[in-house]
This record gives sequence, structure tokens and C-alpha cells, in this order.
Amino acid sequence: MSLKDELIQDRLPNHVAIIMDGNGRWAKQRGNSRMFGHKHGVTAVREVTEAAAELNIKYLTLYAFSTENWSRPKTEVDALMSLLVSTISSETGTLMKNNVRLNAIGCKETLPRGVQAKLEDCIKKTSENTGLTLTLALSYSSRWEIIEAFKGVAKRVKNNELSIDDIDADLVSSYMATAGIPDPELMIRTSGEQRISNFLLWQLAYSELYFCNILWPDFRRDDFYRALLDFQGRERRFGKTGDQIKK
Ligand code: FPP
Repeated sequence: MSLKDELIQDRLPNHVAIIMDGNGRWAKQRGNSRMFGHKHGVTAVREVTEAAAELNIKYLTLYAFSTENWSRPKTEVDALMSLLVSTISSETGTLMKNNVRLNAIGCKETLPRGVQAKLEDCIKKTSENTGLTLTLALSYSSRWEIIEAFKGVAKRVKNNELSIDDIDADLVSSYMATAGIPDPELMIRTSGEQRISNFLLWQLAYSELYFCNILWPDFRRDDFYRALLDFQGRERRFGKTGDQIKK
């Protein structure tokens, strides 16, 4: 039986978020430049996106470039931005074929104009697709997002459009960049690092965390299925007792 066949269809997560880590180390192990790792990382992005779409998972969110990544050497940042443009161009057809809708979260104004334009174009072209929503977190950090949410709520309170007592978890969620998207039930991080790194801090409150040692460019469908199988073996309690959940 293949790993895919072992999955229980009605216990798949609706939303999987991934910190794609280890491109640099993968390249270094091969005596190559960091960009070599990022380029090979695209294959893993394609595999996981196709696998998620096939399984009818509704949302996949990939941490592609953090606010902190701007402080990497300019040559790497520039090359990553070019890679994003070329990948979005070359993959738009595959996204259409797989009924995938592209979405982006992050401080998009800080991205180079070419990246913004390419993103907008692909988001528009795929906007009617009804399968998987693929969200790229670009120039994203959770603290940035939370600060933006604070500002948005404070402005409405100041203008008397909102009372302080109206502020609850649903309202805060509606001010996050992921508004309208359910919280991830599963967050995967590759490469052996066990950190959240400023990714979806609000949304990951009850997510199952899965860490594996595989470096991102090596991550394939079976590794994704393994993460999903591990998720399916867990008991999600949301603060309740095990006995309460079983009832
Ligand atoms: C982390 O590995 C990876 C990134 C910062 C970039 C991720 C980009 C891609 C996978 C390619 C393009 C993506 C899309 C969505 C088209 P790292 O560089 O921090 O690796 P290291 O920790 O081994 O140095």
C-alpha cells in the first residue's frame, strides 16, 4: 500500500502551512551556491502543491520570503526575486491545470515592482479557480501582520466605528493578512530546525507542528504524505481532556 493510500480522506487538514527550510545547506552539501538550493526548492514547491491539490486540501501556505530575509546579501535577495518572477511565469499554466488559486500575504509594497506585477497578474488569472488556494508569504512576518492588525483596529476605535468590547478573536482574525482563510491545522518545517520564525503566530495557536530533517529541495510527495499521516495519528484536544474529545 502506498503512503497516499494510507491517508484517511475525511481526516485531512483543510490548511497546511510550510516553512520551507534548508535550501542553503542543501546547496552547500553539493559545493554549490545558495541559489542552486533555492532553484531546486522550486521542484519541491511544485510537488507539494500538486499533491495538496490532488488530495483536495483547500489551503496551502508557503513561507517563501520573510521580512528578515531582506537582510541577506543583496545578490541572494535579487536572485530570489528573479526566481520568484520566473517561477510564477512558468507555473501559471500548471496552476490553471490543477485548478489552483494563487494568493499572497505580506508587505507587498516592499517587493520589487516586477514581482508585484507578476504576482498580481497570476493572482488575477487564477482568481476563478476553485480548488486549492496556494498562499505565498512574501516579505511577510507575523509581527508585521499583528502590528498592522493593531493599527487597523485602533483606527476604527478612534473613529468610533468600533467599541473596545467588540474586540474578540474573530475580529482580530479578520484583521490578519489571512482573513477569510481558516487557521492551519498542520504546520510543517523542514531541515531539522524547530522554530516558528515569525510565521503565522496568531494562526498557529492550535496547529499541530511537524518537524522533519529533510532539506527543502529534497522534500517530495511521500514526505508530505508522511507529515499528513503523522497528523492523522494525533489527538487534537484544544485544551480539553482526552476523554472529552472521545465522547
Ligand atoms: C529557506 O532556506 C528558504 C528560503 C528563504 C526561500 C524559499 C524559496 C524557494 C523554495 C524558491 C521559490 C519559491 C516559490 C514559492 C516559487 P534557507 O536559505 O534559509 O536555507 P538554510 O537554512 O539551509 O540556509
